[in-house]
Amino acid sequence: MDSIHIQGGVALQGKIRIQGSKNAALPVLAATLLTKETSYICNCPRIADVHRMVSLLKSLGCRVRWMESGVCVNAQNVCRGDMPVEAITGMRSSLCLLGALLGRCGEVVMEYPGGCVIGERPIDLHISALKQMGVDFCEEEGKLRAVTKGLHGADISLDFPSVGATENIILAAVAAEGDTRICGAAMEPEVTTLCEYLECCGAQIDGIGTKTIRIRGGRKLYGANYRVPSDRIVAGTYLFGCIGAGGSVLLESAPWEQMEAVLDIAKKMGGKCTRLREGIYVQAPVRPSPVAHLQTTPYPGFPTDLQSVALAVLTGACGESCVEETIFENRFRIVEPLRKMGADIRLADSKRAYVKGRQRLQGASVEAKELRGGAALVMAGLMAEGRTVVTGCSYINRGYENICRDLRELGARITSV
Ligand code: EPZ
Repeated sequence: MDSIHIQGGVALQGKIRIQGSKNAALPVLAATLLTKETSYICNCPRIADVHRMVSLLKSLGCRVRWMESGVCVNAQNVCRGDMPVEAITGMRSSLCLLGALLGRCGEVVMEYPGGCVIGERPIDLHISALKQMGVDFCEEEGKLRAVTKGLHGADISLDFPSVGATENIILAAVAAEGDTRICGAAMEPEVTTLCEYLECCGAQIDGIGTKTIRIRGGRKLYGANYRVPSDRIVAGTYLFGCIGAGGSVLLESAPWEQMEAVLDIAKKMGGKCTRLREGIYVQAPVRPSPVAHLQTTPYPGFPTDLQSVALAVLTGACGESCVEETIFENRFRIVEPLRKMGADIRLADSKRAYVKGRQRLQGASVEAKELRGGAALVMAGLMAEGRTVVTGCSYINRGYENICRDLRELGARITSV
């Protein structure tokens, strides 16, 4: 799939099942390295980032087998932590293999991790925390080498609640000698998922879902069957897509309790969201209302991963909105393509965008430059008059199983070419 073609102006109607969460599945897959027994991870999304993680695990010596509804991983034969260059440079989440591999092998050699180009994304918090747990780092021929003679528990305070750093510390801590306490931990549901999987394997973790997490290290871990929860970001993408394009949609198995801040903004936009046993039912307003101040913040705040799609919807609102991004410094790359579609957006600085809503965007040829921005352009295409062509779809495939199939099920006129 190289490009997505959308004939806009069709209201969405119907229901779709929300896929398993990418950002929950990836660290859980990394965590399977910490036991020699087989784990079965079901509801694992079939997306490019998961396929890459699976090839990484295989290259490290894991036996991995896809089943109908998930993936089986056995890490019995893993003995060294050399990661292939391609896998690391293409995917930031491969960084959580650092904690898991240190726990398993005591040594890791890796390229500096890549990911979407949404900001500088340093790894200083990961490094300083792991140093406190007995890891030495050095640079060797441009690669990062981490080695430990034995991980030990530590009292770690994070200046910023980094999701990846929290996950890495937890992964190393379950294998460490002694207890670890993380103050200022990220509270994102994906961190909770990782802890829950590790608990199923036999780890002991207190304070799950809070700012202070305590991990009892050194317990033997077993294989486990674990179900990855539904993806709150995919659910949010379609929820805002519906508010932008109009109509009413049932998002089957969307995780209501993880989406409070998202539902709050949806309500401000005039959307009516109802919690049903099957998921979330969204009814769009005739035209979205503006949002005076939408600010991205760590969980439980509004997620940065849904900022672009909210921005796209606000281009069609009946009034002026302000969107403030506080997590990443380069997450307004969608502004230019939206302007090409007729949006009136002014960037005050790298953090704040002012949007004057217009009656209708115009279809155009636009290019996705990163995952969530790409999905937001598809939603903008649904809202626009005429035809929109979105290129750069390999980014979108990193996180969405089949965005065209999903939207077609809701009646959208959309094809991948
Ligand atoms: C995770 O990235 C997600 N990725 C991101 O989703 C998400 O946007 C982000 O958390 C925030 O919610 C995965 O879970 C795989 P962070 P992560 O460490 O862990 C700074 C998507 O679209 N920072 O919480 O990399 C960093 O630069 C992706 O699915 C440091 O300064 O995010 C950023 O400004 C994209 N030093 C902020 O913290 C560090 O050592 C948040 O980063 C680490 C992070």
